[in-house]
Amino acid sequence: EPTLRTVADSNEFRIGAALDPDALRVDPSYWKTAKNEFNAITPENALKMGPLRPSRHTYDFEDADAIVNFGVEHDMYVRGHTLVWHNQKPGWFQAWDYTPDQLRTFLRDHIHTVAGRYRAKIDAWDVVNEAVDDDGSMRETVWSDALGEDYLADAFRWAAEVTDADLYYNDYGADAVNEKSDAIYDLLEELLADGVPIDGVGLQLHALGDHPDPDSIAENIERFQDLGLDVQITEMDVAFHAGEAPENADEVQADYYREVVDACRDAGCDTIVTWGVHDGSSWLRSFKDFGERYTGDPLLFDDRYDEKPAYDAVKAAL
Ligand code: XIL
Repeated sequence: EPTLRTVADSNEFRIGAALDPDALRVDPSYWKTAKNEFNAITPENALKMGPLRPSRHTYDFEDADAIVNFGVEHDMYVRGHTLVWHNQKPGWFQAWDYTPDQLRTFLRDHIHTVAGRYRAKIDAWDVVNEAVDDDGSMRETVWSDALGEDYLADAFRWAAEVTDADLYYNDYGADAVNEKSDAIYDLLEELLADGVPIDGVGLQLHALGDHPDPDSIAENIERFQDLGLDVQITEMDVAFHAGEAPENADEVQADYYREVVDACRDAGCDTIVTWGVHDGSSWLRSFKDFGERYTGDPLLFDDRYDEKPAYDAVKAAL
């Protein structure tokens, strides 16, 4: 039996998983599954500003290096996630009474240092994550409050100064054609018209409870491609509303994975990253109140690292 990775490789498709540094260190099954079954990875948290910045003037690259180097050693496509986000900022940030100039300098240095460090190792960066609100308006964050909307263009330009990686805008809830993806389309069209170096858009595709229509996902992918952008599915997982999982949940989940792979491939997209290696490491098990809202088995491998119907479905669709 060829592994998923082997099948993906021979079909020039990237199938990935988000990785956690501790699991990589302590769990041989996690490590083995990651390396044998996937040809792409994203550090799930290690490249976020919080984990990277213990204090305003220091960096801690230990976890990020561990994951990025794992990917390079095993010849994987490495996605960097993420340079600018409103969540998972360092704890000390809250007490920092910055001026807009100080914040701008801080962000520029952060992007230069982090994207520069991994210049030869990271293939794609989520430069800006989740800058648009659910209703399509620009999200108000520390970045937009202090720096205005210019921070988006600045962030992409700063990243392009230090890396040749492809540069992505990444967001959730914009997988199908809807109000939010319309707004992101307009935003990216404007940035491109201004000459901002942006190469692609990442659709997170956390299919939690609601599963966006695959035909609409394909249509959405194609319109972004028509802007000249690459489109990748960057954080896929498939769950059900708690208490509403069908009896054959594993099969329904597998069908949905297959339909998304088909939609992606039909549209000419070649990268899908799942948000974790196995169900036991899914963020749905640990994140805030998600455990009560959604079922917690959203990935391709189960708690024992056994292949699920979703695994077979993805493999067959590649
Ligand atoms: C999540 C991680 O999976 C969790 O471990 C962490 O506690 C919170 O962040 N959109 C994103 C990801 O862009 O960075 C988020 O990852 C999930 C939603």
